[in-house]
Amino acid sequence: MRIDIITVQPALLDGPLNHSMVKRAVDKGFAEIHLTNLRDYALNKYGQVDDYQFGGGAGMVLMCEPIANAIDELKAQRSYDEIIYTTPDGDVWNQQQANQMSLKGNLIILCGHYKGIDQRIRDLYVTKEISIGDFVLTGGELAAAIITDSIVRLIPGVLGNEESALSDSFQDGLLAPPVYTRPKEFRGLHVPEVLLSGHNKNIENWRHEQAELRTQLRRPDLL
Ligand code: ADE
Repeated sequence: MRIDIITVQPALLDGPLNHSMVKRAVDKGFAEIHLTNLRDYALNKYGQVDDYQFGGGAGMVLMCEPIANAIDELKAQRSYDEIIYTTPDGDVWNQQQANQMSLKGNLIILCGHYKGIDQRIRDLYVTKEISIGDFVLTGGELAAAIITDSIVRLIPGVLGNEESALSDSFQDGLLAPPVYTRPKEFRGLHVPEVLLSGHNKNIENWRHEQAELRTQLRRPDLL
């Protein structure tokens, strides 16, 4: 899989994409991640990529031409399955969408900034508009990092068996059950006996019950 991220703030993505699981996926050849600095497509020597909005109002809008030129150049080199735009007014990202996206070949993620992008880019190029939640970030870069991380870790082979994505929260429509490690007792709190029993069927049943209970209490909307 190849993910191209178009951004005016590439430095914001350096950290999240160069560590941990995403880095491992890239190093092992499961994913390629490329950053395009939108300022390389600026209209003038001042690096202009945004302008005031027609009709007045606070906040700058990313202009059509730099974005269109950046996307056209990428599309001239390969075809893309989706062009995702990160925006608070998009569909809210979830595990099901991450699963679907992890099966795709090439993706572009276009990061919004300031007041957003000219609507005509959304009309002409964007195939999916994604929000990571009902709050507003300064730009779409952190959203792009979150979307990329949640997709890349699902590419078959990226996670080892012991980190399998199948037992993650949301994969079976439930939150994950509580987990414990050594010591067996900490400040008077004991690891549930069943987890020490070695009885796999009972452990599986307990985990399922706990997952249902936790989901009922915290996220009944998922049930
Ligand atoms: N850009 C600003 N806020 C955002 C959000 N909540 N999700 C995705 N992109 C954003």
